[in-house]
Amino acid sequence: MKNNLPVTDKEITVNDDVSILSTTELSSAIKYVNANFVKVSGFSEDELRGQRHDIVRHPDMPQAAFKDLWETLQSGESWLGVVKNRCKNGDYYWVDAYVSPIKEKGKITEYQSVCTKVDKEVVARAEAVYKALNEDKTIAALKKPPVSQRTKLFAGFCLALLPVVVTSLINVPVIYTLLVASVSASLAWGLTTWLTRPLYRSRKMAQQIIGNKDYRLAKYVYGGSLNEFATIELALRVAQAERHAIVAWVDDAATTVFEASINLVTNTEHATGEIDKLYAQTNMIAVAMNELSATSNEIAKNAQTAADATTRANEETQSSWGHC
Ligand SMILES: Cc1cc2nc3c(=O)[nH]c(=O)nc-3n(C[C@H](O)[C@H](O)[C@H](O)COP(=O)(O)O)c2cc1C
Repeated sequence: MKNNLPVTDKEITVNDDVSILSTTELSSAIKYVNANFVKVSGFSEDELRGQRHDIVRHPDMPQAAFKDLWETLQSGESWLGVVKNRCKNGDYYWVDAYVSPIKEKGKITEYQSVCTKVDKEVVARAEAVYKALNEDKTIAALKKPPVSQRTKLFAGFCLALLPVVVTSLINVPVIYTLLVASVSASLAWGLTTWLTRPLYRSRKMAQQIIGNKDYRLAKYVYGGSLNEFATIELALRVAQAERHAIVAWVDDAATTVFEASINLVTNTEHATGEIDKLYAQTNMIAVAMNELSATSNEIAKNAQTAADATTRANEETQSSWGHC
């Protein structure tokens, strides 16, 4: 377990519209980080790439959270959780981390992570739970099996009937009272089941979204309990995180393509400039060659004139010697 120190108590707030993206090799080495990762963590891209993700691990994060993360990823499922990360200078930032395994032909090839701002109320719960886990303290709410809403409602009905039962015990024989009480209890149970049917339908759908995993820690951290509402809330958060992750990656890819096209335009402009320069230089060379050729012609012509003049002078000299 990596213990990155020192730490400060200064929190870096992640803004609403910020998505911190990264991809990780199966070896858990960081492959890609976006500009927001660099900005918030304070590490440069070169310092992050090739390093393990625990470079941003904060000592306040319990080992149990990461065990859960890796077990979920290796089973081929996505993981949603609240993570406290350490910046390069020791400051910290809290995020909602949605980490997914990316598969090709059914085999996991890499992991992707999208981190966003997390609600203050959720952070407060995560802080308390992680502290207890780090101190090996038992968290009662995480241990005891949740009492279902159906049971609670049924108990409520029974409690409401109790005064009637007690009063009737005084006036009528016990057997009648017990008979009436059991009929009332059956009616109360029927009513409870009927009233809570939509809740259990929603929970079943929620369970299909989050899978069969227990998700105890996440349910408690996000929903404050382990009951049916917490399961539904977690499923809604998972669905929201999934949708956000798709938008964030498409946006990131679009930005990369946009930047690449800007580079292409700049490079094309640069190349066009270079071609113009080359053209101008070629023209200059052509002009120079023309001039050179004109000069050579001139020299040749002059040489010929000189040669002719010499021949003529020679002939004249010889004919004047002949007269002598
Ligand atoms: C895609 C991906 C993203 C991760 N993001 C973080 C992160 O933001 N912070 C963090 O502490 N661990 C993150 N982890 C988990 C780390 O790999 C590591 O398990 C964790 O920091 C615990 O470190 P340790 O094994 O040295 O105790 C991530 C893992 C994956 C696969």
